[in-house]
Amino acid sequence: MPVDVAAEVIANRLLSPDYNVLALRAPEVARIAVPGQFVMVKAGQAHDPLLRRPFSVFEILRDEAGAPSGLSLLNKRIGPSTGLIYSATPGQRISCLGPLGRPFSLVEPPTEAWMIAGGVGLAPFVTLAESLRARGVRSTLFYGARRAEELFCLELFRAMDVELVLTTEDGSAGERGRIVAPLEGRLTGRAQNAAVMIYACGPEGMLAATAKIAMRHGRPCQVSVERIMGCGLGGCYSCVVPMRTEQGGFHHVRSCLSGPVLAGDQILWE
Ligand SMILES: Cc1cc2nc3c(=O)[nH]c(=O)nc-3n(C[C@H](O)[C@H](O)[C@H](O)COP(=O)(O)OP(=O)(O)OC[C@H]3O[C@@H](n4cnc5c(N)ncnc54)[C@H](O)[C@@H]3O)c2cc1C
Ligand code: FES
Repeated sequence: MPVDVAAEVIANRLLSPDYNVLALRAPEVARIAVPGQFVMVKAGQAHDPLLRRPFSVFEILRDEAGAPSGLSLLNKRIGPSTGLIYSATPGQRISCLGPLGRPFSLVEPPTEAWMIAGGVGLAPFVTLAESLRARGVRSTLFYGARRAEELFCLELFRAMDVELVLTTEDGSAGERGRIVAPLEGRLTGRAQNAAVMIYACGPEGMLAATAKIAMRHGRPCQVSVERIMGCGLGGCYSCVVPMRTEQGGFHHVRSCLSGPVLAGDQILWE
């Protein structure tokens, strides 16, 4: 069951003029959150912005004894709520409801895990990489951004022995271009009996391209969709995603309940 807490801001680490990592004391949420789940956050006390906003759980924070004590958010400032989260200060309280949504399904060795992240779509992959590492799964992070300065928190993944494949649109780090290019290259060169699970999070165009590449290569793919979410609880239908039916038609699911993690080959991509 999700819980609603007034979480204290422990720290706010600014990564760039747009990105920050906000650490929140919320042991009740951290204890039960699993990779791929999200929280609904209201950063200010004012009526505007009225509604909470969805955020992936970026990290599970732990106390000296290793017990979950809180969580962090990787935030990209694009509007009023993300602006408030960017400028939050230690000691402030932030309403945090969660954990919510359907998480990633974890694989077992010898299946490898390939995580495909675009921009702030990096957010769900730290907790996923931790859980996969605990199972002994070999993981690779394919991470694309506009430029080198927007490739964040690589040290977290290096510390977990995750292989990094980086791209930037301007060529300032890694390969120049989109992150789906090295994904396609590696899948093309991979023996069909070498199992791999593809996990993706990022802009919808990147998710569609990833899912289509995975389908072309006969590989399973779980995507975490980022639709606008008014409630996060199934009540407002702002977050629907068209999914294929077995009869060849389609129906809409609420991505806050059936997702945010959905099977890439079942989404009806435009
Ligand atoms: C499950 C889930 C997990 C998310 N995790 C993170 C995260 O970890 N870190 C993070 O920074 N953001 C995350 N987001 C996106 C985040 O919720 C939005 O950026 C936030 O709601 C914007 O709020 P705002 O008040 O700042 O701006 P708003 O005024 O609400 O939005 C600014 C502009 O962006 C558009 N917009 C808002 N939300 C989205 C969206 N989801 N997709 C495309 N366009 C959008 C609006 O239409 C508007 O034009 C996640 C979204 C979902 C659904
Ligand atoms: S966000 Fe309200 S129904 Fe999904």
